[in-house]
Order: sequence, then structure tokens, then C-alpha cells
Amino acid sequence: MTSSNGKILRSQEWFGTRDLEGFLHRAGLKAQGWSEDSFAGRPVIGIANSWSEATHCNAHLRDLAEHVKRGIMRAGGFPLEFPTISLGEFFMSPTSMLCRNLMSMDIEEMIRGLPIDGVVLLSGCDKTTPAALMGAASADLPAIIVTGGPSLRGNWRGEALGSCTDCRRFWSELRAGTITQAEYDSMEEAIYRSPGHCMVMGTASTMSALCEALGMTLSGGASIPAADSRRSVFAERAGARAVELAQEGIRPSQIMTEAAFKNAIRTLLTMGGSTNAIIHLTAVAGRAGIKLDLSDFDDLSRSTPTVLNLKPSGKYLMEDLFYAGGVPAVLKRIEHLLDTSCMTVSGKTLGDEIADAECYDDDVVLPLENAMSDEGGLAALKGTLAPDGAVIKVSAASPELMQHRGRAVVFENPVDLKNRIDDPDLDVNAEDVLVLKNTGPVGGPGMPEAGFLPLPRKLLQQGVRDMIRISDARMSGTAFGTIVLHVAPESAVGGPLALVETGDMIEIDVEERRLDLLVEEEELRRRKAALASPVGDSAAWHGGSRDSVSEVRGYRKLHADHVLQAPQGCDFDFLLGSTPVETHVEAPEHPAGHHTG
Ligand code: FES
Repeated sequence: MTSSNGKILRSQEWFGTRDLEGFLHRAGLKAQGWSEDSFAGRPVIGIANSWSEATHCNAHLRDLAEHVKRGIMRAGGFPLEFPTISLGEFFMSPTSMLCRNLMSMDIEEMIRGLPIDGVVLLSGCDKTTPAALMGAASADLPAIIVTGGPSLRGNWRGEALGSCTDCRRFWSELRAGTITQAEYDSMEEAIYRSPGHCMVMGTASTMSALCEALGMTLSGGASIPAADSRRSVFAERAGARAVELAQEGIRPSQIMTEAAFKNAIRTLLTMGGSTNAIIHLTAVAGRAGIKLDLSDFDDLSRSTPTVLNLKPSGKYLMEDLFYAGGVPAVLKRIEHLLDTSCMTVSGKTLGDEIADAECYDDDVVLPLENAMSDEGGLAALKGTLAPDGAVIKVSAASPELMQHRGRAVVFENPVDLKNRIDDPDLDVNAEDVLVLKNTGPVGGPGMPEAGFLPLPRKLLQQGVRDMIRISDARMSGTAFGTIVLHVAPESAVGGPLALVETGDMIEIDVEERRLDLLVEEEELRRRKAALASPVGDSAAWHGGSRDSVSEVRGYRKLHADHVLQAPQGCDFDFLLGSTPVETHVEAPEHPAGHHTG
């Protein structure tokens, strides 16, 4: 297939030559039962599939891929499905975040290495969508994201449940003794009723919605439940559109522009979305050559109302958002704050896509005059405890704790926390500030979602349901509470968090965006000099024991040596930027080989 500029699609270097290499490439497809008519001269569209039985949120993507294929073939293309690493939140230890960058490298190199002209990326669970965006941005071949969609609402004894916001809520009630173990157990079968990812505005839903705001998926797709037949239709449309994208040569770099990232940040803020999205968006932008700072999020937060009434910040679930009009209805609410001239994968602008968007339930997507808050759901803090920044999800926090001074109760690591948090003799009261160290990108390792520190059982039994908690960890997007996360620099690389001791006073003022450790500098210098273990030890926690840095090898060594801090997106320093793959190549009479890119 030769385009008007006399160039051919990249895949024709593999399949379009009458030499030994062309012979082998065609034979490889014929070996799978394809006739030459099926692929000859057609755009080849990869389907990067993160299906896995170990990622329950993505377990239906094998089926969804068939609908993508149908769309590709309907539009005259040829589908080539291939697997990628898949990262599931429930099963990966110590944390799926440890391997997000690995998955992005896998995707980038598969795009680069395979004979494809464009790619449809199937994702769903928390890390799989950011990894897909990162890989696609770095390879910069025409790409379109298809997320697997949220699971249906949970239902337990007539109450709609959202995972895992309500798993956590009822876990606290179990620990407080207000429900029985048998009642809690009975929820296990009621919380996930269908395929799909967590159905609150957690990280998976947030990143899926941000794909719409960025323009990297077709409009309206993020909220369609995984079990709804319209998701299959959506997948088919995406497959067909991917063929056109490949022919047009429209690249992610033309879509994921600086203005598009600002749109995504506005969307994150107005949704009260996951704090994890700050890290992921920063990492994706870094691949696109765009530097996002915490101040970008905070500045836009000051002028972005929170209009989405979904758990964990609000009341409803993704299924409700779908019936209310989906993400286009949200974008329409804040249209005046968006750059609607941004191009999307549909070939239309964001403004075109939401021109006719309507909201069918004003209690789910609130009118501006009735917004949950005049500001966004996230705030960036700085101060002597977090010189490089920290974040708090204001929309899921207790308003009375937004300005607070309290005594630190310190846990050195997750094992220490687990061993002591429910100790009846633990010296702690509701006004104290719980502090957890050694859970950052290096110290975790991989920055686990340990930031949702459990409240001490004895305080739960007294009726306490929230306290200020501070760590260098992340928190699940489904979690809630007055929780300060992503403290940077992290404790394992010598941040002030490493120096906090039980009894120190900590002050937080969200309005002023401050987070301070109220300890004299001289005393902090003394503590730093007295730190027993070398600062910067990249350890790994495994069920109570810790590997020393000298025992870390392989990918974990690569991670320890190259991971950036949270405000830089936790990407690897050597992965920033992109190396675009050619979309079309010259049409020599006798192409020398299949290597291009
Ligand atoms: Fe996959 Fe929540 S466990 S999105």
C-alpha cells in the first residue's frame, strides 16, 4: 500500500518484499492459517493485550480483543494480537508499581520490534493503563487505548458497594467490632459481580477517564461497564479507527501535548480522582518530553471545582457515571477550563467530541453552582517535612483536620506498623499524627500503597474513624481519609521523614499548603549524623524480613539505581523522552530488511 507521498506503510517492509525475508514473514502468518489476501497490502494493527488470569480486572480482555479485531478487519486492516506483562493490584508483591516501568518498556519495545503500523492497547487495572500510555508515548507510533471498563456495582444486603472503598470501610468496622467476621466474609462474593476494574473513582477509573481527557481513547468509553455490550461495540469502533490512524500517521505526540496534559489535570481534579494519577500523568508527560511539576497540579486545583460525586470522595459508582452521561458529561461541566482545540484519536478535537454531551443525572455530575468544592480534590504540600513536596486528597479527607498540629507516632516500616498498631499499650490518641517511613520508590521498594495506615484498634473501638497519616508511600485511589502521601525526598534517600521521632510535633495547613516538622535544625542535624544504617539503602520488605541492598539484583537493582522520586513520576531516569518509530517508509525496489524505527 503506497500513500500519496510515495511512501509505504511500515509493515510492508516485512510483508511486501519478494525476497527471503518477505517469504519468511508471510510464511509466519500462513502458518497460523491466514491467506495472503487477509493481510497483503493492509495496515497491520497490533493489539497489545494485558490479559491475565493473575489480573482479575483484565481477565476479560481476551474476549474484548476479538471485538477490536473485528473492527480492524472491518476497516480493511489486519490484526496482530500480542501479550504484554500484566500487573494486577491484588496479587503482585510487593507492589505492582515496582513493575509499571517494566511493563512500559515491554510495550514500547514490542511496538518498536513488531511489523505493525499502529497499535490498540488493552488495559484496565491500575498500572496497566499508565504503562500503556508511557510505552505508546515513547514509541510514538499511532496508538489508541481501549480500557476494559469498570465492574458492575457491588451489592450487599441491598446496599451498593464500591471496591475497594467499601472493603476498607467495612474492614475498619470489623476491627472496631461493629460487624462480625461472617458478615465481612459474605461481602467477598458481593463486591465484584462482573469482569472489570474497581468501580469507584480509584486509580483504574481515574486513568481510564484521563485517557479520554488526553484524547488517547474514543470519547465516552471510560465508564461503560465491562459487562455492558456497548463496551464490545466501543472496542470494535476503536479497532476500526486504529486502521485510519495508522493510514493518517497521527502519532501520540500530536495528541498528548502540553495543553492535553493540562486538560487531563483539570479532569483529574474535577473528578476528585486518584492521587496515583499525579505520579502516572507526570511519568507519561515525561515520555512525551513535557515536564509536569506538583505546582502544575496545585495551581490548577485552586481554580477547578470538584463536580463528580463518586466514591471515595462522594456517593456514586462508575456505573452511575455511565448512565449519567459518562466522562463527556464531566468534561462538558468544565468546558470553560479546557483547551478544546486539542486533537484526539478520533481525528476530531476535544471540543467536537463534547459538543453534544449531556448530563442525565445532576446528582452524579454536579452543576457548577452545586459543586462539592470550588477547588479541586487534590492539594500539593511543601515544608520542612517535605521539601520537594507531598500530596493530599482533600476531597476524601476530614475538613476539621485540614489545619492541625499533633504529636508524631512513628513506625519505621510496614512490619513495625503491623506489629504495633493494634498493641493496646501503644501510646496514641486521636489528635496524634501517624507517620510511616521506608515506603517510598526506593525504600518500599516500588512505593507500595501503604499510605492508608490502619487506625489503631483501640481508637476505632472508641469511635475514631480518621486521623492524619503521613508517609512516603502511595495510597490506593479507592481509599479515603486525611492522608498525606508521596513525601519527598523519601526517607530511604535521606529525606527529613527519616528523622522524625515519636513525640515530635508536626503541623499541617492545607489552605497554606504547608507540612512542617517542628524540630530545631540543630537537632535534625544531630539525628542525621546518628542514623544507624546508611541512608539510601534500597531494601525490599518480604513478610517481615528485609533484603539488604547488596542482595538486590536483576530488575530490582535496575529499579533501585534508576527510579526517580514521586514528584518526577517514579519513572526511570533513562526512560524519559521518546524515540519515534517511523510510521511510513520509503518504498525501495528491494528493501534491505525489516528493521525500522
Ligand atoms: Fe484492579 Fe482495583 S484491583 S482496578
